[in-house]
Order: sequence, then structure tokens, then C-alpha cells
Amino acid sequence: MNPKGHMVRWMLGDGEIVRRFLEAKLQVHPDVVSYVREKNDPALLERIISQVPHGTLVVSSAHIPDLSPEKDGERFLPEPDLEIISGKSGDSPEKNRFEDFFPYFRDRYTRLAEILRSRVNPVPIEALTRSTRYRQEECMVIGMVLDVRTTTNGHRLVDLEDPTGQIPALFNRDRPGFPDAERLLPDEVIGARGRLSQDGRLLFAEQLVRPDVPLTHAPFTSNRPGKAVLISDIHAGSSTFLEEAWERFINWLPSSGAAYLLICGDLVDGIGVYPNQEEELTIRNIYEQYTRLGELMAGIPKEIVVVISPGNHDVVRPAEPQVAIPLEFRKGFPENCRFVENPALLSLQGVRVLMYHGRSIDDMIGLIPRASYSRPEEMMVEMLERRHLAPVYGRRTPLSPEPKDRLVIDPVPEILHTGHVHTSGITRHRGVLGVNAGCWQSQTKFQKQVNITPTPGRAVIVDLQTLEPKVMDFA
Ligand SMILES: [Fe+2]
Repeated sequence: MNPKGHMVRWMLGDGEIVRRFLEAKLQVHPDVVSYVREKNDPALLERIISQVPHGTLVVSSAHIPDLSPEKDGERFLPEPDLEIISGKSGDSPEKNRFEDFFPYFRDRYTRLAEILRSRVNPVPIEALTRSTRYRQEECMVIGMVLDVRTTTNGHRLVDLEDPTGQIPALFNRDRPGFPDAERLLPDEVIGARGRLSQDGRLLFAEQLVRPDVPLTHAPFTSNRPGKAVLISDIHAGSSTFLEEAWERFINWLPSSGAAYLLICGDLVDGIGVYPNQEEELTIRNIYEQYTRLGELMAGIPKEIVVVISPGNHDVVRPAEPQVAIPLEFRKGFPENCRFVENPALLSLQGVRVLMYHGRSIDDMIGLIPRASYSRPEEMMVEMLERRHLAPVYGRRTPLSPEPKDRLVIDPVPEILHTGHVHTSGITRHRGVLGVNAGCWQSQTKFQKQVNITPTPGRAVIVDLQTLEPKVMDFA
């Protein structure tokens, strides 16, 4: 107790938590650190340490008492095995108006705040700034990031907004919450815990909470055999398209045992996507590019269901959700193809796969310190932590304002499938498998200029019973 009689709660920092585990000769997974920090309970920390079985090297979320995985075992299984949950062709309206952005962002805030509210207890910003009662206590707000910048002293200052008001929050570079604050993006929705300044106009934030995948999340797995092959970025029509690698891939498919092939955007190279693109095209007519792709897919066994979503090189509008490839461009494709929007959520034998081309990865790599095109899997984790596929509005990812923000990641999928960056990366975050297979195009002039080395000719095959991925290299 402090002299005024207020309870002063000790706020656990990451450093202290990790140190306590090290004292007990244990390494600890970052998920456990963030869980203990969120609970802010020193007794919980001691309880975990005392209950870790002898011989454990790394303490994982499985060692947290009372935290048992919540597996969604009773999933409705449709007939046939493929169900398009959202992102069916025609789900998105063709046009939206600028004034629709207000309800769009309100929906984003409401849904992400709801996810956060299951773990934290926020105060409306208006109440915080109007009343003096919060000035002595630790408090939590949930806000959308209006603006974020680094101060001259290297701290992070963020303007947070909820439906009642706005408040700036300062993350001190020497405090535990700073590594999370370093990665703050405009328009993401976060929880910030801290103390108000004396005048009530600034929140000194100590902790940042993201909606994230629940720590208890246990992915659903299929109860019978089934495999899915994941690829993206074919770029048919480009002079750098790797036809021989593609042929090896098509020849392998019948023996792969796969029931599904998912293609996550950039089916063709397109026309006029970047300056002087025509110099790098072998097919300069957009219809012919799709016809050529149809021919390239003719060898895919009829039993394999092919799901095709668009990317930024495709013929549809760039604003996301991108509509499905229009009928007039589908004529040359085999009958086993299904065309969906970008993003689209599928169920394959009950296993949910979220397909998203990944344009937002450009924005995130530009804004997140130490991010790299050679490690796209890290950006998939950033998406999952924010429960949003394209948090940043107004940069390179155009968004279409629909009444429901379809880029919110809800429900949590078993697999997040992206593309766009042409580099392969695989990750697992709290049970969710993230896959970026790469591309079917060798390095373009543009990529050479910006120093991106693609990893072409790879497909990833995932076993739906185990969610284990396997990389197949056809380059
Ligand atoms: Fe691409």
C-alpha cells in the first residue's frame, strides 16, 4: 500500500519474468511470458515454475496450469468436403462509397475490441479523460491507432481512439511494453494498460495487448486422410514464368495424394501493373494470358479440386476484398476449378484455410523494424497477432469499405495461406500454420532493383490430419 491507501499493483515486466525462469534454470516461450504479463500475477509465475516437470528445457503454454487446449471437435462437416465459408464469387459488392469508410472502421473496431474484451477490462476513453478517479490507478483502454510516431527521445507516441474519445499514449523505450510498441501500425486495434498523467491528458502505457490467437487455441484436424497443395503467384504471360518447373509440378500432382490445390493469387502477370511491364511479357493480351493459364492447368487430375483466388496482378479491382475472376476470363479453365474472392475462407474436410494474397505484407515490411522480404512468415504472425490481414489503410493496400470488415481474422483458421512476396516461408503461431509457398517466376527486373531474391518453383503440401507441411521443390 502506498501512503494514500491506494493499492499499488506490481506490474510484471518481460525482463523480470524471463529472469525468474532463468533463475529456475528454465528457458521460456514468448507466449508464456506474454500470458504471465497479461495476468500480472506473481503467484501464477511461481506456480508455473513449481509445476514444470523435471527435465523440461523450454516452458511452453502447455505448462500453464488451468490452461487446457480448447479444441473445436464438433465441427459441422459439409458434403462435399470443400465449403467456401466466405469469399464466394459475388460476396463483395462491386462498388462502395467513400462515406462507407465510417461504418467499415467502426465494424473493425467493434469486432477486434470484442476479442480483446474477453481478456482485458477497458475503461471508455471519455470516462478516463473526464473523471479524476482514474488518475491514481492503473487502467486499460482499447483503441484504434489513429497515428503513431517516434519521439525525439526514441519513445513511441500513439493516438488511440474508441467510440467515446481519443487519448495519446506514450510507450517509454526503457519500459517492458516497448518491443510491442515498436511494431505498432496505423489502424490496428490494441489494448493499452498504464497510468494517466496528473492532468489526465496522457496515458503512460506499460503494456500493449493485441487481440491475437487465444493461447488455448488447438487447431481442428481432419478425422480422415486428405492433403492440400498450396501455391501462388504463377504469373502466366510473363517472360520470367518458369514453364519447366511448372511442368514438373503438374507431372507430380497425380502421385501427390492431394485432393485440393489452392492458388493464392497472381494467376497471370497482367497488363500495365508496373511501368514498362510490356517489355517483360510474352503474352500482351489479358484474355490470352488467362487462356494460357487454363492450358497450363489442363494436366491437373480431375479429382483434384482447384480453388483460385485473385491477386494484385489479376484482372479484377485492386481494392480488397478483391472480387473473384470474372466469368469471361474463366472459359479456358478445367471444370474442377472454383473461383473465390481475395480473401476467402474455406473448409477442407472441416480444416479452415484462410487464403489471402498478401499485398499488406508490403506495408508491414515498410513499417515494422527489422522485417524482411526474405522472411514473409514473420508478417503472417503479425497478421495473426492483430487478427487482421491488412491493418494499415492508405498506403499500398487499397481497401474497399464494406459494412463488415472481411479482413478481420475471425474465426481463427487452421491454415493461413498467403503469396505476393515471391519468397517462401512457413511458420506456426499458436497452432495456426502459416504458409507462403513462393512463386513460379524467376527474378524480375523490378525485384532486382529492390533486391528481392525470389524462391520459385515450390509447392507446399499439407496433411489435413496432422497439419504438417512439406515443401516440394520443382525449380
Ligand atoms: Fe506475384
